[in-house]
Amino acid sequence: MHFPIEKGKRMEDWSARQYLRFEDERTRPSWDLLAQVPLEKARTVVDLGCGPGNSTAILVDRFPGAQIIGLDSSPDMLRQARERLPDCSFIEADLVQWAPPHGTDLLFANAVFQWVPDHTAVLHRLALALPAGGVLAVQMPDNTSEPALVLMQETAAQGPWAGNAALATAGRTDLPRPEYYYDLLKPLCARVEIWHTIYNHVMPGHAGVVEWFKGSALRPYLSALDGQMRDDFLTAYTTRIARHYPTCFDGKVLLRFPRLFIVATR
Ligand SMILES: C[S@@+](CC[C@H](N)C(=O)[O-])C[C@H]1O[C@@H](n2cnc3c(N)ncnc32)[C@H](O)[C@@H]1O
Repeated sequence: MHFPIEKGKRMEDWSARQYLRFEDERTRPSWDLLAQVPLEKARTVVDLGCGPGNSTAILVDRFPGAQIIGLDSSPDMLRQARERLPDCSFIEADLVQWAPPHGTDLLFANAVFQWVPDHTAVLHRLALALPAGGVLAVQMPDNTSEPALVLMQETAAQGPWAGNAALATAGRTDLPRPEYYYDLLKPLCARVEIWHTIYNHVMPGHAGVVEWFKGSALRPYLSALDGQMRDDFLTAYTTRIARHYPTCFDGKVLLRFPRLFIVATR
């Protein structure tokens, strides 16, 4: 598989096209999260950080007849989601300020809260807003110690771009321990389930690993760089990835990817 580098393209907004290059792999945690949601039926379901609608689509299949709302702060993602699911409502909002409509049964959040500043306070507020029996279902990558993310920080610290202040803060902070989420949510909830799953996503090669992260964790690094600097950063990062991730017999590379799941029922 060939991945052209979009030379010089700035990456302030999310790119639905880039994100969907690995749609199957990115959607699998949504299936695994939804499988543990203890609701037979729902009236209103909100997909927080719905992105291009891939997670929203599985909610539509699971809850026929429910009002399904997708919420995202990215116009590009929302454009794609609306095209994909014209019968759903999509709203552009920052979930930090947003409050669920009355009667919401499920707040579903696949791969969004790791991007939200002070996300634990937001989780607490949203859980409080749910009615009895309502469910808050969350999945977040818990991968800040994985080589792919550590190597982003290493690359940022060691090139001609090293003085760039935005790069120094481009890395994601570690998630709190599971106990922290339990203590946060259990006083409000009848039941709190927390688990980790480690995926080994099959990438088409080392360039594929870099493409994957261009759609997610590399975005803050790349948006801090322009033109040649950006291309050189990607080359330096790819070299490091190639050193750390072994190639399988067929040329594929397994991207180890731990993810944290929380299902809290009010
Ligand atoms: C990694 S994508 C997840 C997409 C989809 N839920 C999935 O399962 O693949 C994260 C999405 O969260 C959105 N997002 C990030 N911060 C947000 C915020 N504060 N409020 C609303 N959406 C946000 C981004 O725009 C992006 O579309």
